[in-house]
Amino acid sequence: MPQTMCSLVVILITVAIKSTRVDSLDNGLCLTPPMGWLSWERFGCNTKCNIHKDQCISEKLFTDMADRLVADGYRDAGYDRVNIDDCWMSRNRAEDKQLLPDPHRFPNGIKYLSDYMHSRGLKLGIYQNYGLRTCMGYPGLIGFQAMDAKTFADWGVDMVKVDACFTPVHTLDKGFEDFSQTLNQTGRAMVYSCSWPYYQLHTSQVIPNWNLIADKCNIWRTYHDIHTNWKDILATIDFVGDNQEIFNRNVGPGRFNDPDMLLIGNEGLTVDQSRVQMGIWSIIAAPLFMSNDLRHIGREFKDILLNRAVIGVNQDRMARPGVRVFHNETLDIWLRPILPERKDTTGDQTSYAVAFVNRRTDSAISIGVRLQELGLKYKYLFRDLFDTENNVWEPKAMTGTDEIHVTIPSTGIRLFKAELDISSQSQDKQL
Ligand SMILES: *[C@@H]1O[C@H](CO)[C@@H](O)[C@H](O)[C@H]1NC(C)=O
Ligand SMILES: *[C@@H]1O[C@H](CO)[C@@H](O)[C@H](O)[C@H]1NC(C)=O
Repeated sequence: MPQTMCSLVVILITVAIKSTRVDSLDNGLCLTPPMGWLSWERFGCNTKCNIHKDQCISEKLFTDMADRLVADGYRDAGYDRVNIDDCWMSRNRAEDKQLLPDPHRFPNGIKYLSDYMHSRGLKLGIYQNYGLRTCMGYPGLIGFQAMDAKTFADWGVDMVKVDACFTPVHTLDKGFEDFSQTLNQTGRAMVYSCSWPYYQLHTSQVIPNWNLIADKCNIWRTYHDIHTNWKDILATIDFVGDNQEIFNRNVGPGRFNDPDMLLIGNEGLTVDQSRVQMGIWSIIAAPLFMSNDLRHIGREFKDILLNRAVIGVNQDRMARPGVRVFHNETLDIWLRPILPERKDTTGDQTSYAVAFVNRRTDSAISIGVRLQELGLKYKYLFRDLFDTENNVWEPKAMTGTDEIHVTIPSTGIRLFKAELDISSQSQDKQL
């Protein structure tokens, strides 16, 4: 039996919802969160192409995914990056110390792959590790920063993910800051994805210098590698929510917190759980990198990934992150300010994406909440952003004094867009 709630006390974190603008990494990239596909969670370091021809880290894997991105509508929905993770290199550098892709798995080299992407309207990303070796033991960046940055630029790479395995944590600030400059000096604009704060937060007591990180990187990892199960999704969401006042301070155009890949379409997440990941990643302005097998994906999961309304929330041009305004063991409520907005004497009024997440594994829950308790004080058009068979919800005009009633499936989400009525004069006066 769904439980009904009469009252709901919402803790409004209005400070965090205010945008704070600071200069971002000046490469003009990622004004909204980057989107695409990344090999790591699904394909890891599988180098055994002789037995896993279609599953190994190889040229074919990346061209196959590029073909699916184009043919199945992902590119046109915004997923325009194909990113290589660890294990693409030969075990050793060349005689002249240049990085070498594995000659058997990448027979035509990386330039071929970036040309392949560019001719299809896609972009190529690559991986390195600020260390002597990568996490999986391939040649690392330290000692070769300028050479590797130039190599990536010469190859036509568009994004570089830099990990930080095996490196003393106190050297990361300088290392990652310098490499930002090194990438800049190549003259090729490349998105800079940093695992920098992750290692400080989780392998040491070092408090990350968030201002510096956000000024030097386009996106940055803050939490553990994610795996395809509900526990990881929830733990990642909780980590973001628990630390939102710190994380949100530096989020804006060109600078985003990265809670890791989308796992939608892999075995281990239900349709409802997949909607939670897609919905919350959009609310928190997270990069949307799928790590799945686009050659074999169920229609219901593809529909979630291609949901334009939800992607629209993620890609909102204000690039203001969402805030968890209510949290307990069974229920989370999140709000993200989005366009359209309206400025007048009463201050800025924005539209919102509103998410209700049911954390219970054993039952649906039903709740009713007055909009003004959520901080929504004006006149809005409410729309359900996921087409859920059982919960068809016609768009409704609502004001602050109205109550919204929703039933949220077990480990599921209800995601709404509350579009501010910018035509009406009635909102000059708060309701
Ligand atoms: C969480 O909050 C909701 C709404 O106030 C309430 O109905 C529910 O009982 C709470 N759950 C727990 C475990 O306290
Ligand atoms: C390098 O940095 C300068 C100054 O911050 C900026 O104007 C320029 O666009 C950057 N170039 C690249 C390729 O990122």
